[in-house]
Amino acid sequence: MSEKEKKQSKNISRRSFIKGVGTGTVAATVAPAILVGNEKTAEAQTDGAVDSAKIQLNINEQVYEVDVEARTTLLSVLRDGIDTAGDNVDLTGAKLICDRGECGGCTVLVDGKPVYACMMLAMDAQGQQITTVEGIADGNNLHPVQEAFIKHDALMCGFCTPGFIVSSVALLNENNKPTIAEIKEGLSGNTCRCGTYPFIFDAVETASQKM
Ligand code: FES
Ligand code: FES
Repeated sequence: MSEKEKKQSKNISRRSFIKGVGTGTVAATVAPAILVGNEKTAEAQTDGAVDSAKIQLNINEQVYEVDVEARTTLLSVLRDGIDTAGDNVDLTGAKLICDRGECGGCTVLVDGKPVYACMMLAMDAQGQQITTVEGIADGNNLHPVQEAFIKHDALMCGFCTPGFIVSSVALLNENNKPTIAEIKEGLSGNTCRCGTYPFIFDAVETASQKM
């Protein structure tokens, strides 16, 4: 992580924080067998062969062209990336919390699978369909998981919520009638420091009845 990225990660602005929480309230999270990125590819690309490149990423069905270093993570592009037209990518729903693949706050879908965006290099995400919490709803129609999180008030501070919503969607896409045990297992890759787990599990159960 560059010095600039470190400063940015430490200085989450009030605007970004509020926006992220807002996104959490209309979306939500879940992720068990979360992928943590392609480490072999990452090693190969940081081996000196490619230091930086202009790449295209398909995010929420929109193509973004961004300049990245070999070490740039997908999460960094989502939150702080600037496309070659000079526009901010500005998809701050995925949160930078632990930055080490432990909390699930940065969970996104990559080709439908939940992935920790802090553990995936941006270069490795090329050619894959990336879906962030901002892309979960169908236009103005919230996803059943998002509706259920609101119904069950399944959040407190909301910081973990986007990750839980994305993981929940991934879980229900794989198994739309999970047992409580399967829900817990499916969301075991996400952490809520406010302890809203019972409400989250109830929300996923409710959402499953609509899917
Ligand atoms: S910020 Fe990626 S897993 Fe915690
Ligand atoms: S609602 Fe605060 S960390 Fe989960």
